[in-house]
Amino acid sequence: MRKPFIAGNWKMNMTHIEAIQFFDDFKFNYENKNNCEVAFCPPFTAIRSVGTVIEGDKIDIKLGAQNMYFEESGAYTGEVSPIMLKALNVEYVILGHSERREIFNEKDEDINKKIKAAFNNELKPILCVGEQLEIRESGKAEDYVLGQLDNCLKDIEEKNIGLLTIAYEPIWAIGTGKTATSDDANNMCKAIRKKLANLYNEDVAEKVRIQYGGSVKPHNITELMAKSDIDGALVGGASLKADDFLAIINY
Ligand code: PGA
Repeated sequence: MRKPFIAGNWKMNMTHIEAIQFFDDFKFNYENKNNCEVAFCPPFTAIRSVGTVIEGDKIDIKLGAQNMYFEESGAYTGEVSPIMLKALNVEYVILGHSERREIFNEKDEDINKKIKAAFNNELKPILCVGEQLEIRESGKAEDYVLGQLDNCLKDIEEKNIGLLTIAYEPIWAIGTGKTATSDDANNMCKAIRKKLANLYNEDVAEKVRIQYGGSVKPHNITELMAKSDIDGALVGGASLKADDFLAIINY
């Protein structure tokens, strides 16, 4: 049985002070009736503050980052290393988010290096994959997403794969209010799992959690989570509102 995993991606929102204020509200209303694993991925500048609140108040929430570089240290102005994240008790790191790919030109090859660096430093990657609208409309979405997996997982050892989370995020559904139908989302998640079984084996494929992401809201989470191969959600906009995110966790 895969434990449901709901992660909030704050993107470039919330100063560290706003983050602390968010938790003032969130922690008093925190309830987790489905016993999900819950993570927040704040911007780098708020990770320390969120970590302090979570530890101080003993809230059962994991800390994640939204990106990192694949080198451990050195002359890489503006980058953050896996060692730096680990030192802040970060457990998860989102890699290959479509905004990183589209705005900052990240390639599958870079993401592959980042996944390796994450595992080398005992961080658990949340690997994002997903197609553009033109690709979906041309009927090639599955080939495209499975191709991203081939490239991003190249030479990743089987022993680490159980620690990987994959987030299927169709790009046309992110921040747009459009969601994939729960059947389309589940079909892609199933295809991803089958691909993992081909690349590795059935046992590992059954362990990997696959999240859906793209305009997940309190009104659509229940239907998504009822599907066989959707194990959680990567939530952007709705994770910035304590009430909405609590409603999503308690779908
Ligand atoms: P959204 O973002 O929930 O605001 O669509 C999801 C994501 O980009 O991870």
